[in-house]
Amino acid sequence: MEKLQTICVLFGGVSPEHDVSRVSAEAVLRNMNKENRRILPIGITKNGQWMLFGGEDYADIASGKWEENENNRAAFLSPVRGMGIVVMDEKNTVTETILPDLIFPVLHGENGEDGTIQGLFEIAGIPYVGCGVCAAAASMDKSVTKLIAATTGVRQANWLTLTRRSYKKDPSAMCEKIKQTLDYPVFIKPCSTGSSVGVSKAKNDSELSAALEQAFRFDRKILAEEFIDGREVEVAVLGNDNAKAATAGEIDAGAEFYDYETKYVTSTSRAYIPARISDETNEKVRRYAVKIFRALGCAGLSRVDFFVTRDTEDIVFNEINTLPGFTSISMYPKMWDADGLPFSALIDRVIDLALEEC
Ligand SMILES: Nc1ncnc2c1ncn2[C@@H]1O[C@H](COP(=O)(O)OP(=O)(O)O)[C@@H](O)[C@H]1O
Ligand SMILES: [Mg+2]
Repeated sequence: MEKLQTICVLFGGVSPEHDVSRVSAEAVLRNMNKENRRILPIGITKNGQWMLFGGEDYADIASGKWEENENNRAAFLSPVRGMGIVVMDEKNTVTETILPDLIFPVLHGENGEDGTIQGLFEIAGIPYVGCGVCAAAASMDKSVTKLIAATTGVRQANWLTLTRRSYKKDPSAMCEKIKQTLDYPVFIKPCSTGSSVGVSKAKNDSELSAALEQAFRFDRKILAEEFIDGREVEVAVLGNDNAKAATAGEIDAGAEFYDYETKYVTSTSRAYIPARISDETNEKVRRYAVKIFRALGCAGLSRVDFFVTRDTEDIVFNEINTLPGFTSISMYPKMWDADGLPFSALIDRVIDLALEEC
């Protein structure tokens, strides 16, 4: 008989994408092949408490009800090599330690997708799904991503990197600097958020001031970017050294842009798989996605996002997500499904890729 594989699925976390992570985790847990596997779902609350979920119903994870389950136990990953997950009772007495074979961080954004938790996994010596510390950190910071992606020669929107310190010193000088380089409309976005948190499109001076104020609430470093009028084309990349890209898909926000509301609240957005671009452009954008994945040193999986201009089908790289949305309606699993790799096989594949790297 095959050895039992213990897999720890981490979800939640302190980032603004906590809720999305729970919905992704439900889909991952539900679709994960359970044969010969012991699954440990561990949730991180919005204020950073770690708990081993004691319930059976994964729907409670998506809804947030999981936190109230009376069978939950405080648990955390020890940085001590070989110790693994430390489980405690209500008196904070250690009752058990469990060494997982693998950790699947179904976490989005801050502390989950930015290399920090990957650092803990490295210190603990436990294999994990997805990118390593350096690739995760570089892919989370949009200004660093741009500098590395520039080495591939793929076009990007013109941009400026701006800091909170210089904004505080002279806000109007910053507006002038942006206007000297870029024409309206401009996109203003924090370097290290996701889910469009703090992202604005500014069409005039007063919108620009409000956009800067908003973005600097979330980050000390932000981007001002040229507006690209194009289709939003997304590419799912899977693999390590031999990473492959699925047929590119497209999101039509059905709104001014793909903001937080459009992503999670309203239902105006529509997905198209394949993207409504020529076959040649689809092939090309897939090649570009793999190039960028490689340049950033990614491993396992990532979703690489582009704009494709409507008139000439120019491809413009936008950003990369190393732990893309994994809900059952998310683009990443849907694009693989359309290419013949169903959700549960996809999960097996990212797990195998993580173990292959060890
Ligand atoms: N330069 C740009 N031109 C046109 N639209 C943009 C540009 N930058 C961002 N957007 C819009 O804002 C959305 C969110 O920006 P993005 O850079 O993808 O940040 P996030 O990491 O929060 O998803 C994009 O999906 C797109 O709709
Ligand atoms: Mg995006």
